[in-house]
Amino acid sequence: MKTVNIGIIGGGLMGREAASAFGRWFALKDFPVRVRLTAVCDLNEGILSWYKQIDSVSLLTTDYRELINSDEVDVVYIAVPHNLHREIYLDILRAGKDLLGEKPFGIDQEAAETIAAEATKLGRFVRCSSEMPFLPGPQRVIAEVQSGRLGRIFEIRSGFLHASDMNAQKPINWKRQSQYCGEIGVMGDLGMHALHVPLRLGWKPSKVFAQLQKIITERPDGKGGMAVCDTWNNATLSTQVDINGEQVPMQLEMKRLAPGETNTWYIEIYGTEGGVRYSTKDTKAFWQFTNGAEQWWKRTDLGFQMPFETITGGIFEAGFPDCFMQMIAAYVAEREGLLNGKFGCATPEEAVDSHRIFKAALLSQESGSFVDVSFPSTLVI
Ligand SMILES: NC(=O)c1ccc[n+]([C@@H]2O[C@H](COP(=O)([O-])OP(=O)(O)OC[C@H]3O[C@@H](n4cnc5c(N)ncnc54)[C@H](O)[C@@H]3O)[C@@H](O)[C@H]2O)c1
Repeated sequence: MKTVNIGIIGGGLMGREAASAFGRWFALKDFPVRVRLTAVCDLNEGILSWYKQIDSVSLLTTDYRELINSDEVDVVYIAVPHNLHREIYLDILRAGKDLLGEKPFGIDQEAAETIAAEATKLGRFVRCSSEMPFLPGPQRVIAEVQSGRLGRIFEIRSGFLHASDMNAQKPINWKRQSQYCGEIGVMGDLGMHALHVPLRLGWKPSKVFAQLQKIITERPDGKGGMAVCDTWNNATLSTQVDINGEQVPMQLEMKRLAPGETNTWYIEIYGTEGGVRYSTKDTKAFWQFTNGAEQWWKRTDLGFQMPFETITGGIFEAGFPDCFMQMIAAYVAEREGLLNGKFGCATPEEAVDSHRIFKAALLSQESGSFVDVSFPSTLVI
């Protein structure tokens, strides 16, 4: 069986999540490719030392160039602050490696376009991280839309909600500072998650009206003082998409101050014949609407029906580590040409499209009006 050697750049929150997925790869049933985590890079020695417990890791380094030049690395998973995406993603590609890059895939549209164009030019296999659609609920949502059973779709809502920033005493970190996180703020953190399924279904907004909010503008700096928190906390985007010639409203919510919402990803799609609803807040529940003389919302408790079969029992519930692992499995399978029609990771084109929407949202916030979003068909990527 083929083995793909993986390196991680950025060993923090998401680097460790990826390492945990590689570490239990055997949970995937009859998966045609093995993965082996061989190298990790982080600037922080304390973080690097956590990886010493993983036997397959032979290179721990604070210099990412050492990792990308290693013969023991075929693919890089990269999870670093957004201001570093452009430079490090480009260096990985130029070193001849493929990559699974964390969102937002560049601090802004220009960075995302540059990375995508370089990947195309060099013929590298590149995808952008967005794991939530790999849960059973979103997979059912997608299947129902594609079946045509919803009739004429007239409304879409998609969002990702966090609550931890409700705590005004939470110390500042790079995600709350524009110079590291990007001018797009919360949209860069949560936007790709909200847009992955709509974009995959072909719903690219032609217009955006944005309500962006800076609610908490300073936070403890962790050293006894206060630091400026200059990123957008919350974004509510009213957009319009063309579905079979009809203009349909699509609302996108990305919020760091959403009372009580720990990590709530949701999508709701309504049509004249039926509807579908899913939220991670009630992880197992998949809701389907049936129109008729009496109107019904039917709840189904989903089990472990993941895109890639695992040894986990079918009645058990799926969670964050599971969808994250499924996303990586999709990356590896697609890279080998073995996706076989299953749902694939977000593409560089989708990441660039998400940035087009975020950029239009910034312009809309400035002008207080709807802004057109253009998706050039001749995009050179
Ligand atoms: N897919 C998801 O659900 C999800 C969730 C959270 C964050 N993210 C994304 O993952 C990325 C990282 O976020 P995080 O939450 O893991 O952040 P983090 O701060 O926990 O980790 C980032 C790590 O990068 C390291 N780093 C910084 N500069 C470096 C360099 N030059 N070379 C090597 N390492 C360096 C830091 O020391 C840190 O350990 C971001 O793009 C973020 O948007 C994705």
